[in-house]
Amino acid sequence: MNTKQSDSATRSAAKTTAVNNVTTLWSHTQDADDKQCQEALLATGNIPRHLAIIMDGNGRWAEQRGQSRVHGHREGIESVRDIVKASSLLGIQYLTLYAFSMENWRRPQAEVNVLMELLLYYLKNEFDELHRNNVRLQTIGKINALPKNVQKQLYESTEAMKDNTGLTLTLALSYSARWDITRAVQMIALDVRRGKLSPEDLTEERFASYLQTHIMPDPDLLIRTSGELRVSNFLLWEIAYAELYITQTLWPDFRRAQLYEALASYNQRERRFGKTSQQLADEKNDETNHQTQPTYVQRLFHAFR
Ligand code: FPP
Repeated sequence: MNTKQSDSATRSAAKTTAVNNVTTLWSHTQDADDKQCQEALLATGNIPRHLAIIMDGNGRWAEQRGQSRVHGHREGIESVRDIVKASSLLGIQYLTLYAFSMENWRRPQAEVNVLMELLLYYLKNEFDELHRNNVRLQTIGKINALPKNVQKQLYESTEAMKDNTGLTLTLALSYSARWDITRAVQMIALDVRRGKLSPEDLTEERFASYLQTHIMPDPDLLIRTSGELRVSNFLLWEIAYAELYITQTLWPDFRRAQLYEALASYNQRERRFGKTSQQLADEKNDETNHQTQPTYVQRLFHAFR
């Protein structure tokens, strides 16, 4: 057995043990109040399928406490852990976190190094728990710009978790929406040149299939912490119809209670997708009538009973 095989054997043995020992699953660490909050949200039947978050305010959080920015990033990891757990427990299918933008490379080298170290720490430290809880980890962004050790860890973690069927956790790393769109246009141009695609066949759906995000549905809700009113080059194509939720809370203070507030706000929104409120109400009525009216086959079945 080579190192990789033995590594994967150890992981799968660990997973089996962990699954048998259910006390190590997130669901078994959830307290009654939290369960109640989640049940109330779930009862609305309106939980976003895809939640995207711009995590902002780590630096300010630390500065307000007279600490170095590193403390803010470190505390930010605790928020990541809590939001991942809460999202998974709520049955949110996709959670995408803006962890490092392409523009973040412009920060002082020392801060970039710390962020990369924290990312590595998170990946190593959380691997077992994420995997055990059926999370599928994936990335978007220019991954080959990251340090080699981070790339290696990302590759190993995403490979190991690729068949998991629970929450899909996507980390946007060295990510830029304009970069992804430009990359898509380059690939489309190449396909046109090779005769694989004709310009007339380029629909919105076809275009989106060239984006790195083709692996997930568009976000339903975009949260930005720390109060800035901008989208900072995040998922520009994909958030066309996302509901926006901006909170003053700084990322290290954004935990599941704050997430529930955001979800409650989302629940109040009327997502019209260009239609009128009246049209939506009519559609809902039609749907209800359709559900309560017996179908032709059901009526026939009754007639012959
Ligand atoms: C923005 O705060 C946050 C970041 C640039 C990085 C986010 C990273 C983490 C939460 C930790 C590592 C992430 C993972 C997924 C393990 P800021 O520094 O821009 O804050 P400021 O606007 O107050 O200066």
